[in-house]
Amino acid sequence: MVSRSGEAPPGMTTTPMSPPFLVTGAAGFIGSHLVDRLLHSGAGVVGVDDLSTGRLSNLAEASRHPSFDFVELDVTSSDFRTLVSRIRPQLVLHLAAQMSVRSSVADPLHDARVNVLGTINVLEAALHAGARKVLLASSGGTVYGQHATLPIAEDTRLLPLSPYGASKVAAECYVETYQRLHGLTGISLALGNVYGPRQDPHGEAGVISIFARALAVGDRTTIFGDGTASRDYVYVSDVVEAFIRCVPDMPFPARLNVGTGTATSVRELHDLLAGTCGSYAIPILEPARAGELQHVSLDSSVLTALTGWRPEVPLLQGLKLTVEWVRASLGSDSSPAAQHRNGEGARPSHPGAH
Ligand SMILES: NC(=O)c1ccc[n+]([C@@H]2O[C@H](COP(=O)([O-])OP(=O)(O)OC[C@H]3O[C@@H](n4cnc5c(N)ncnc54)[C@H](O)[C@@H]3O)[C@@H](O)[C@H]2O)c1
Repeated sequence: MVSRSGEAPPGMTTTPMSPPFLVTGAAGFIGSHLVDRLLHSGAGVVGVDDLSTGRLSNLAEASRHPSFDFVELDVTSSDFRTLVSRIRPQLVLHLAAQMSVRSSVADPLHDARVNVLGTINVLEAALHAGARKVLLASSGGTVYGQHATLPIAEDTRLLPLSPYGASKVAAECYVETYQRLHGLTGISLALGNVYGPRQDPHGEAGVISIFARALAVGDRTTIFGDGTASRDYVYVSDVVEAFIRCVPDMPFPARLNVGTGTATSVRELHDLLAGTCGSYAIPILEPARAGELQHVSLDSSVLTALTGWRPEVPLLQGLKLTVEWVRASLGSDSSPAAQHRNGEGARPSHPGAH
């Protein structure tokens, strides 16, 4: 069910013996896949989202599940704290965020309010509700900044180039501090460039989603920079699996990278997608934008050694699955792709680095 207040969601099916999992940013791209996966594995889940960029349609499957409740709330609010104290989750998966590099450059205060103050509010709520662990979605594409040696390991110096990267570093720092100060276990998962079904083509994040829709409807595509900028593209089900592997109680380091270790250039990505879509589109090249990195790939060997996690979906297969979803969603009037087709908010494409 969907509730629009901080009231305790009725119909919670989990018992006091098995407190629910709380997912913030539940209506977003990654959060909604995580909700589906948790429900599928038998957990009770409460999802929170203020729907600033998320969509209830992402939770269509989850909302039919008896062990799921959704509450529309801002994670920076006192109502959020009230909710968490009532539901007493065992584990908090914190994905709610302002996640646009460009917006963070334009409005760093808003970025910090959501990503830093929001994370502190989530930690306070989790602590006082007796949660055993908090998992934070951090950003391997921005917290490290530019480094000559790739793939980047967790002990690499943090040199963010954008307010978004800085706010994720600060959020990670608070997670670690709450562990030291209060004993609240916290892990930051530094994600590569996540892609797959449900990624919003109108947001800034998903170059794959943006290219796929543009190519599918025959729009021109634009690359910012010369096309050599490269990113570590990781499929959403692999990212969800990484979160799941971090649920058990065992010693983890403060940050774990979640990526494939492979950097793919934007131009290469564009051509792979064009091939998948059966298109011969030639992208427009525009100047690179502030806050964007040149090359990123992430070394996830610590996560692999600790949990056995490995990326299972090769890039070409992930691109095909994403294009299939884009094509299917073109049939739905309420879908992002349909809005794109109708010219609502269509915008040029860029690499992004989150
Ligand atoms: N997509 C990527 O490539 C990527 C890479 C690295 C890290 N991340 C991180 O993963 C998380 C999820 O990203 P995503 O790609 O699913 O983005 P998304 O925008 O689809 O999801 C974020 C969700 O948070 C919600 N939200 C924003 N502010 C909120 C607030 N104040 N209160 C409650 N909800 C709020 C939004 O409505 C949205 O549903 C974010 O923390 C992001 O920084 C994403």
